Amino acid sequence: MSRSAERAPRGRPGAWGRAWGRAWGRSVRRAWGRRRAVPGRVLRQVHGCLRVASAASAASAARVAAIAAAALTALAILSATPAASEPLGLGRPATPAEIAAWDIDVRPDGQGLPPGAGSVAEGEALFNEVCAACHGDFGEGLGLYPALAGGEGTLTTEIGRPVKSIGSFVPYLSTIFDFVRRAKPFGDAQSYSDDEVYALVAYLLYLNDLVDEDFTLSRENFTAIRLPNEAGFFPDDRARSELPAFSAPPCMADCREEVGVVSRGISEVTPEN
Ligand code: HEC
Repeated sequence: MSRSAERAPRGRPGAWGRAWGRAWGRSVRRAWGRRRAVPGRVLRQVHGCLRVASAASAASAARVAAIAAAALTALAILSATPAASEPLGLGRPATPAEIAAWDIDVRPDGQGLPPGAGSVAEGEALFNEVCAACHGDFGEGLGLYPALAGGEGTLTTEIGRPVKSIGSFVPYLSTIFDFVRRAKPFGDAQSYSDDEVYALVAYLLYLNDLVDEDFTLSRENFTAIRLPNEAGFFPDDRARSELPAFSAPPCMADCREEVGVVSRGISEVTPEN
């Protein structure tokens, strides 16, 4: 069902909203009335806080105190709002259909996968029709549109510009399934059937040389597919793997016996001697 099918009617302000409005109005009216009685003094009132300039006299101090008290009363109403005991009168519970429409995430262990299946051949037809225009016939990426295949090894060899594709970078196939199902096709998101998503993902695996051309991806065999860079993602272990190397007390005096030029800038600004 469509996400926008049902919308909450625009509610009138709830009980506490009206109480807050009244208290605020009272304090503003009071402050404003007194301000006009004292020309030349500047009193500015900003939501819940006061900015007062030129409040030197005892009279204006009293006025400031009165305004502060009014604002505090209003704030007290705001903060003492009985959150649990009195409903605010806003919104309505989400319907099961609305929750189901949002609840489409798929996890690496396969949780959340819908029933269904799709073959490499079916995926190829869909891909060529829609996706190749941006991602290239072989998923190599066109212009600024990202590559979906290729780039194996570039994470370590192309420092700064690795090709982060499904085969070279992504740790879990569920990420790709989730992304295609949630966001594709570009501009008409979530218009594919579950079988079509399986087929597209099967074809993406084929483009990455991870399955054969007669392969069919389904909920049943989904978690059997492991992507090459899965081991490249692991919990942060720097406290163990790196920190000790940087934790030794640094040398602060007489660290080198001889001091000399160790390299030269390419613009030849480093002096010869
Ligand atoms: C109009 C251009 C366009 C079309 C058509 C298109 N995509 Fe994309 N695709 C993009 C862009 C742009 C991104 C990057 C989005 C981002 O990073 O937020 C992307 C990202 C992706 C990603 C994630 C890549 C990654 O490494 O994060 C996948 C998977 C993908 N597209 C698959 C498809 C599939 C399958 C189709 C066809 C159904 C398709 N795309 C059609 C533009 C397009």
